[in-house]
Amino acid sequence: MYQNETIKLLRNEFTQRLLTDGGIEKGMRVLDVGCGSGDVSIMAAEMVGDSGEVVGFDISENALSIARNAVKEKHISIVQFIQADIADLPESIGTFDAIIGRRVLMYQSDAAQSISSLLPYLTAKGKMIFQESDCMTASFHADSMPLHTKVQNWTWDTVAKEGGNIHIGRQLYSLMKNAKLNILLTRAEAILHTFESGSDFGWAAKMMEPRMISQGVATAEEIDTNTLEDRLQLELGGSDTPFIRDMAFGICAEKINYIPQNKQKSISLPVITLFVQ
Ligand SMILES: C[S@@+](CC[C@H](N)C(=O)[O-])C[C@H]1O[C@@H](n2cnc3c(N)ncnc32)[C@H](O)[C@@H]1O
Repeated sequence: MYQNETIKLLRNEFTQRLLTDGGIEKGMRVLDVGCGSGDVSIMAAEMVGDSGEVVGFDISENALSIARNAVKEKHISIVQFIQADIADLPESIGTFDAIIGRRVLMYQSDAAQSISSLLPYLTAKGKMIFQESDCMTASFHADSMPLHTKVQNWTWDTVAKEGGNIHIGRQLYSLMKNAKLNILLTRAEAILHTFESGSDFGWAAKMMEPRMISQGVATAEEIDTNTLEDRLQLELGGSDTPFIRDMAFGICAEKINYIPQNKQKSISLPVITLFVQ
């Protein structure tokens, strides 16, 4: 199988850097929102160490069982996974020094509401760190790389048809700012798919094939997962331009000075008049 280990490493490396630079450190208690199969929770666990703790939650019991197996295999004991919905988290999970999440806000019908419903679970000086993708590069190489373009469109069209927000990346900064959080770090990065790196499109299409078919975006014959990776690699080999699938956006913010909306008071400031001669 081509790929994807390189691309996967690059994608995870962005997350890793975001979490480190965003201030995840030893001893912290971290909540991973929409943890899926646990990749980000495991990354956070390595950063907080044995004196810390990570709680990952997800609505999908399937994803959680993969996540539980992954931590078991790695003998990580400081991570626990629970089934929960962002909108309905149990109070008993307590508060966290950091709330993190990757590619989960894009699936919320009201991402602003999701962020504000998480804030009570953040300690007074807590950090909130989200990474979301944006389909901002659709048709970037439409002429020179038709197969990559086609697979890219299948992927994003499927997510859009499922109700996902394919432009959440560019909206992340304002979502977090509007939540009255203090923005600490902002970044965006794209991965270049080249002949040398391989592409993760074949892997993504294989993973998403049932969803692509059920959304009527592509047929099994069109996708043809048996030959797709070879065809993609052939296309990369014949191109001297890299292909960009999406842009990853990462924002880190802190809760300092945050006042919940129902506690906000209007304050009258004294009027100061300056006389300039
Ligand atoms: C694209 S996956 C990302 C998984 C993981 N964060 C990662 O980056 O590897 C999105 C995950 O969010 C979960 N999810 C979506 N909406 C959710 C909600 N309202 N509450 C909890 N989990 C949710 C999905 O079940 C899925 O596992």
